[in-house]
Amino acid sequence: MLEPGANRVRCHSKGLSVMPLSDRVRHTGLRQKIMSAEDAAALIPAGANVGTSGFTGAGYPKAVPKALARRIEMLHGSGEDFQIGLWTGASTAPELDGALAKVHGIEMRLPYQSDPSVRKQINNGQMQYTDMHLSHVAQFVWFGFLGHLDVAVIEVAGILPDGRLIPSSSVGNNKTWLDQADAIILEVNTRQNPALEGMHDIYYGTELPPHRIPIPLLNPGDRIGEAYLRCDPAKVIAVVQTDAPDRSNHFAPPDETSRRIAGHIIEFLQQEVKAGRLPADLLPLQSGVGNIANAVLEGLNDGPFRNLTAFTEVLQDGMLDMLRSGTLAMASATALSLSDEATADFNANIAFYRERIVLRSQEMSNHPELIRRLGLIAMNAMIEADIYGNVNSTHVMGSSMMNGIGGSGDFARNAYLSIFMTPSTAKDGAISCIVPMVSHVDHTEHDVQVIVTEQGLADLRGLSPTQRARLIVERCAHPDYRPALLEYMDRAQRESSGQHTPHLLDDALGWHSGYLKTGSMMAP
Ligand code: COA
Repeated sequence: MLEPGANRVRCHSKGLSVMPLSDRVRHTGLRQKIMSAEDAAALIPAGANVGTSGFTGAGYPKAVPKALARRIEMLHGSGEDFQIGLWTGASTAPELDGALAKVHGIEMRLPYQSDPSVRKQINNGQMQYTDMHLSHVAQFVWFGFLGHLDVAVIEVAGILPDGRLIPSSSVGNNKTWLDQADAIILEVNTRQNPALEGMHDIYYGTELPPHRIPIPLLNPGDRIGEAYLRCDPAKVIAVVQTDAPDRSNHFAPPDETSRRIAGHIIEFLQQEVKAGRLPADLLPLQSGVGNIANAVLEGLNDGPFRNLTAFTEVLQDGMLDMLRSGTLAMASATALSLSDEATADFNANIAFYRERIVLRSQEMSNHPELIRRLGLIAMNAMIEADIYGNVNSTHVMGSSMMNGIGGSGDFARNAYLSIFMTPSTAKDGAISCIVPMVSHVDHTEHDVQVIVTEQGLADLRGLSPTQRARLIVERCAHPDYRPALLEYMDRAQRESSGQHTPHLLDDALGWHSGYLKTGSMMAP
């Protein structure tokens, strides 16, 4: 068994010792339901709302959606309409989102996506998309706000003799889908490590208001539930075998920009410790998705902090490295989101990781009550921020969806410290990521405490709008755009009808429309 501080042991073979399907499906009745992906897909009716497993490229069904896409293509070829509502934990992978979008098989997508084909259809108006706080999804389904869930398609690592399920590499909304769907299709993926068993913590104490009780989780590593997903075998209409890896996530090595962003955050956290506002081992970390988030984790791993904890949504490569080095003592999440190399390391050392990782349902990993009580340090990437501290995480130029809000709102609104980060410019400098007014608001000025770019860090706590504006522009804006932003602020302070949050509404979004017209936000 590896100890913290040991070098990462790479296991270059991704194949695990193959366990026969009969060992994975230990419920005798459900063995009778084993069938091909094509036969299972044929059981999904047109117009169904289908809730699938899958969160950030982990634990999504890999065969039935592809088979369904083939069927939809055939039906469309013969002039028949066939679309589904696709509900997931979060983003999935080309075998699911991609395959179904390519055949125009999705009528409504929720609650998050990051697939290029899905994005294209959302942005050209061919697909409806409900972009939601990830902690809201389960309760929206329980409350009935999203309509009826017809079919659940869930990847699992195995089925116990009594029908309970060994979850796969993500938990997401699986508990809710299994509970709420009329019919269940299980994909048993023999590529998922059987030693995942015991890593999950599924909490069943959730009730609807007015019967809710406090969630008894006091520390990020607490186990308050069960290691298995409950499942009524009578609702299972098909069991399908798969043997395929999760999507591989590629992380670019940190560049100068992300290293500088990481450096500013680490310096700030050290100052907070010195000022007595954070303990020496900080508070539980939440880290968003993407290269910059991963670079910040790498920076933290090389930094002065030890014995940290994480209460986050997704575990990227950087967090495994931190667990390995002992920088991180334990991590709670709802999904793994790893590169091939990190997946091999995870599988080779799963006993080590199982003692240090807890995978939960996303209504727990992102729960506002827990985030507020544990006092998280939330670090999320953004598309742009405005001079007053409002943040846009989702929309390019105000109208095109990038991915979605994901968990960023769950964490930002409720964290002890809410940090948003971005390079100061995008598209080779043609766009300033600090603008007079964001073209879409996901996180209001009230939920954003710290803004960081490679230029510097602005601590906005306790400042009025005009004080925040000066600090953001001076610390975070790129020098090419600083004079124009200062000029806007000064002019707004002279001419705006109100002086609390001075704005010139005709000019405020001119930066974006200027870019759309000329390909440059403004001549710097
Ligand atoms: N205007 C226009 N485009 C912009 C932009 C801006 N101000 N800032 C970034 N972009 C573009 C980039 O050019 C890039 O485009 P490309 O894909 O064509 O190259 C794209 O947006 C992604 O930017 P990148 O710098 O690579 O950022 P990223 O991979 O770190 O992603 C978000 C940033 C905001 C899109 C991503 O973090 C996200 O989807 N966040 C919302 C969900 C979230 O925070 N989840 C975590 C919660 S747990």
